[in-house]
Amino acid sequence: MARIFSGIQPTGHLHLGNYLGAIRNWVRLQQEFECLFCVVDMHAITLWQEPEALAQATRETAAAVLAAGINPDTNILFLQSAVPGHAQLAWVFNCVARIGWLNRMTQFKEKAGKHRENASVGLYAYPNLMAADILLYKATHVPVGEDQKQHLELTRDIAQKFNNDFGVALFPVVEPLILGPATRIMSLRDGTKKMSKSDASDFSRINLTDSADSIALKIRRAKTDPNPLPDSPDGLEGRPEAANLLSIYAALTDSSIENVCQRFGGSPFSDFKQELADRAVAALAPITAEVNRLMADPETLDSILRSGAERARALAAPVLDEVYRAIGFLQT
Ligand code: AMP
Ligand code: TRP
Repeated sequence: MARIFSGIQPTGHLHLGNYLGAIRNWVRLQQEFECLFCVVDMHAITLWQEPEALAQATRETAAAVLAAGINPDTNILFLQSAVPGHAQLAWVFNCVARIGWLNRMTQFKEKAGKHRENASVGLYAYPNLMAADILLYKATHVPVGEDQKQHLELTRDIAQKFNNDFGVALFPVVEPLILGPATRIMSLRDGTKKMSKSDASDFSRINLTDSADSIALKIRRAKTDPNPLPDSPDGLEGRPEAANLLSIYAALTDSSIENVCQRFGGSPFSDFKQELADRAVAALAPITAEVNRLMADPETLDSILRSGAERARALAAPVLDEVYRAIGFLQT
């Protein structure tokens, strides 16, 4: 049976890339599959987080997932740090994954930057913890944005090596689900850079908590080029900012880039941006309102997360047991 697992880091505000690249797909998948959605606070601390800000961002991230339409009764929504099995299995995977495998991870190189010697050991081992998140529940499908593909390949390698080393068929082969026309939303200031929580400029991204006015302003100020919009996707060659805005529009309206080109081909960016802003506000305003409502009621939010963690622990326990037996840890 298929089981979905996905995770999101509670670092700063969620943005349109998280919504279109990840959370919106989760909302659709919950109709068909058994799903676990995890706020990965242990991944967040691979980079420094102010404790109070981390706690606030953790609640806000959980609230955003609920506000986007995840049903916490039919799915499991929980915090990674509330289920010890993630750390326990991650340690096992630290001993399965090879240093050479981790050395190839491009996200570590990006995040560690020039000061690699000064990066946390956790940042380096991050993909092993991610593999543990998924495999602790023997999840089979993982909806993510493009940027996580390499980590999922590593998850497959770890699962396979564990199965081979111990002569078991314990872990499944994990499939990434990279869905929709917006698997990689780019910065509004630079079409070659990913839209990211950590970009210094707030004008680079649309946050799920932005007001309608601020969304409209950011889209009006978004970088473009002097040419009108093309009437087919071929005309987007070498125009990363135009390609990005069109794919955001396609995702928001559930249409294809072809259709959007047909509709706006020849128009100036100003007309298109007005419509794009209207669409973005229409999609995000109800989510923002619901996030604010949930944030005002932390007891309800915490009790949803507590119940999620309880159910996650119950699913994880027998898998960890099986892993420990396979390894030869004495069961006393
Ligand atoms: P993160 O914010 O890094 O925890 O990412 C949470 C989810 O959002 C993951 O599935 C990412 O692949 C996805 N995601 C993050 N940034 C973007 C982006 N700019 N475009 C599309 N998906 C994204
Ligand atoms: N690394 C992911 C990101 O930054 C978040 C994540 C952690 C995740 N564990 C996961 C995603 C397990 C999918 C499955 O986006």
